[in-house]
Amino acid sequence: MTDQYGRQIDYMRISVTDRCNLRCIYCMPEEGVEQTSHGEILTYGEIARVAKAAAGLGVTRVRLTGGEPLVRRDLGRLVSMLTALDQVEEVALTTNGVLLGEQIEELAAAGLGSVNISLDTLEREQYACVARRDELDRVLLSLEKMREYPWIQVKLNCVPLAGYNEDQWCRLAELAGERDMDVRFIEMMPLGLGEKFPLCSQETVLQRLREAFGPERPAKGKDALAGRGPAFYVTFEGFRGRVGFISALSHKFCGSCNRVRLSAEGFLKPCLQYEGGTDLRRLLRQGASEQEIAGAIRQAVWEKPACHQFEQPRGEGTEKKNMNRIGG
Ligand code: GTP
Ligand code: 5AD
Ligand code: SF4
Repeated sequence: MTDQYGRQIDYMRISVTDRCNLRCIYCMPEEGVEQTSHGEILTYGEIARVAKAAAGLGVTRVRLTGGEPLVRRDLGRLVSMLTALDQVEEVALTTNGVLLGEQIEELAAAGLGSVNISLDTLEREQYACVARRDELDRVLLSLEKMREYPWIQVKLNCVPLAGYNEDQWCRLAELAGERDMDVRFIEMMPLGLGEKFPLCSQETVLQRLREAFGPERPAKGKDALAGRGPAFYVTFEGFRGRVGFISALSHKFCGSCNRVRLSAEGFLKPCLQYEGGTDLRRLLRQGASEQEIAGAIRQAVWEKPACHQFEQPRGEGTEKKNMNRIGG
């Protein structure tokens, strides 16, 4: 499936809930958010119907996101439903890792292919300050536990935050040195609460890493040059894994964007920064056929905006929601 700019869309991010067991300062307000009721979010059956239609149009990878996807009951069941789709080559998960250790056995059995774990610091007090919950130990246990599942690729995501976790960038990158695991630094996107934070750019982080590990080298691997996703990867002398950067502001990657997003409420969102898209839940609940759903997906993809405009003042039609409702 291609959009009007010739980009091939083969990846769907599916948010299964906007709830979360953490309250990261750049994502959710301390007091929490008004919860979307169960009736408003898609059932697993409805998600699978959308995924099936999307797979028929060329989507080969799906990633489950949130909020925190593991707070939704029985996620393994959805993973099984998605891995059962013929054209789907990989089902991946993005999680904060708190509940991963307890659920990985079931998820692995369901055929989960890769896991991205969000971890901004390895220091307990800092973690409690950024995530507003004292859950670091459980995340670290989950990370250890993943060693028992070497076929499931693990990546760590860190959002660099000036004044919060600067001293952790090298420590986190070192994990990529020790273990065959990618550690990625994500530039804060000015969305929702993220708008309040100053940009800590790729160059700032990379400069710190160079001081500690020497000059970087281009990394090898199938998605090393932003081919398969927004990340660009490097490595350092003696490192086993890679260090990646997802730099939506300093290194805009919209020209090679390959994805769309499905919100927990069934809204298909062609671009992270805009509120536009298509209400697939309405179609599903009106009893639309797979063909009709496919038609709506194709249309939304065709109309995918050319690029984000994070560098400009927020214009008309830009997204007002916090990241927990967008799915990252
Ligand atoms: P893989 O590269 O397949 O492992 O996944 P990913 O990096 O796309 O997924 P992940 O959920 O780990 O996302 C990491 C960060 O990248 C999050 O902050 C996302 O919001 C951001 N991200 C993912 N896709 C896009 C995108 O299309 N545009 C922008 N600007 N950011 C994105
Ligand atoms: N900008 C960049 N990344 C963000 N995340 C949440 N909010 C933002 C933002 N405004 C990250 C989380 C997680 C991933 C899914 O998205 O830290 O790693
Ligand atoms: Fe939860 Fe992820 Fe948002 Fe943190 S960034 S509050 S873990 S959804």
